[in-house]
Amino acid sequence: MQTKLIIANWKSNKDIYSIKNWFEEISKALQGVQNLEIMEIIIAPPYPFLQMVKDEIEKHNLPFKISVQDLSSFPAGKYTGAVSGVNLKGLSVSHSILGHSERRRYFRENHQDIALKVEQSIEAGIKPVLCIDKSYLEEQAGVLKSEHLDKVIVAYEPLAAIGSGNGESVGQVSEVIKKVKQIYSSDTKVIYGGSVDEFNVNEYLLVSDGVLVGTAALDPIKFANIIKNYAT
Ligand code: PGA
Repeated sequence: MQTKLIIANWKSNKDIYSIKNWFEEISKALQGVQNLEIMEIIIAPPYPFLQMVKDEIEKHNLPFKISVQDLSSFPAGKYTGAVSGVNLKGLSVSHSILGHSERRRYFRENHQDIALKVEQSIEAGIKPVLCIDKSYLEEQAGVLKSEHLDKVIVAYEPLAAIGSGNGESVGQVSEVIKKVKQIYSSDTKVIYGGSVDEFNVNEYLLVSDGVLVGTAALDPIKFANIIKNYAT
């Protein structure tokens, strides 16, 4: 069985109290569940909670990795408010979610900014998860350095499917994934995001290398059910 990525994107939700509770609940819910090694389970908390999430993962002995939800397009230096790859050293951050449609929409990030973030992430040894909609998958690829095309994980996130409760049809997702592999590289992992939940996750995992989960990842029981449904 191929290892699948299961990414929890908490966006700008949660605080130290609810995170503590989330870990208590999920560790109870996953007790005795076998086969977790067939997944790469990755938690993407807001920045202030990276150390806490690292500690909670260790405390509960969970096989989870950590992602950031953004990264500076600049290296370390005089960039007030930015978080660079260097800042993340020692925090066990393995992945970065880059170019999420909410970053593009509310923070006006463009394809070029995101290509620079991809570069910074790769330089820091952090695997970029590059979010795209089908309307700009070629344009985004066009501004990436060619040697980065097989180093990103592409998250196909159709705008209409995000947070709507209406995921895209599996057939359509499968078509776009094929296209991504043609444009990026046949080795590029492509995951799907947009209203993934415990009921539809296995269908999406049949055609993709993983899923990016927003709303359903906020609830530890729902997220545990997503994991359990693939594990069993
Ligand atoms: P959703 O969010 O699961 O709530 O649709 C997905 C995402 O924005 O990554």
